[in-house]
Amino acid sequence: MQIENMVETFDIQRELTSNGRGLPILRGITFSVADGEWVALTGPSGSGKSTLLGILAGIDRPTYGSVRVAGFEITNQSEGQLARFRNEMIGIVFQSFNLISTMTALENVEAPMYIHPNKREAREASMEMLRQVGLSDRLHHLPHQLSGGEQQRVAIARALVTHPQILLADEPTGNLDSATSKQVLQIIQEMRNRMKLTVIMVTHDPSIAARADRCLHIMDGKLAGPEPVQPPPLYFKKAVA
Ligand SMILES: Nc1ncnc2c1ncn2[C@@H]1O[C@H](COP(=O)(O)OP(=O)(O)OP(=O)(O)O)[C@@H](O)[C@H]1O
Ligand SMILES: [Mg+2]
Repeated sequence: MQIENMVETFDIQRELTSNGRGLPILRGITFSVADGEWVALTGPSGSGKSTLLGILAGIDRPTYGSVRVAGFEITNQSEGQLARFRNEMIGIVFQSFNLISTMTALENVEAPMYIHPNKREAREASMEMLRQVGLSDRLHHLPHQLSGGEQQRVAIARALVTHPQILLADEPTGNLDSATSKQVLQIIQEMRNRMKLTVIMVTHDPSIAARADRCLHIMDGKLAGPEPVQPPPLYFKKAVA
């Protein structure tokens, strides 16, 4: 079955409790992302971009609203189901790379394949992914022996080794100089084309946002621009906090 929208959200709200009071972080976010689309997510610091990405990744749960990924409602899944969802569907990269410092590049990329029944195949898949990001000669380096751009390329290989359908990226070039940023973006773009990924990328850089198919702008926990006209879908529900 052809899935038209890879991501569909309806009225995502996220509230935190601070000193016994509810603090709204996301205040009703509704949007869709088509299969294969590349969407840039922009907005001022503190507007809720990382919070939204965490909810789309199934790392965090909304207080209210619906999130459908590849047709599946993820807000009411058990922790075990969410872990499997993340492993199979989502690749995620962060500004600070988040590699495990005591593990080599190859071991970092292999880590998400821990459930793979065939260790040799897992190793070969990891080596192939590192080859695709141009790091075949850095397999046994530890993160501190790699440049920032190389570390981010390891993180991209790790995010994609399980062949997810969606790549979520939270300011993936935020810690890199402009030449290295270009290189890393080029790799993300190549991998997107090769693996037919849907990409949602947080960025502060207008020149990066301009290269995306579409830009969503968050201000103060809400999407800027006209409210999307969309009736509540049938799966609308109150999520468990
Ligand atoms: N664990 C937490 N406890 C309290 N407040 C939090 C927590 N996580 C996020 N917030 C608050 O939620 C709001 C949104 O945070 P979020 O990290 O999503 O913003 P952001 O748009 O990613 O910002 P930046 O561009 O600086 O990364 C901020 O006001 C932040 O202080
Ligand atoms: Mg953030």
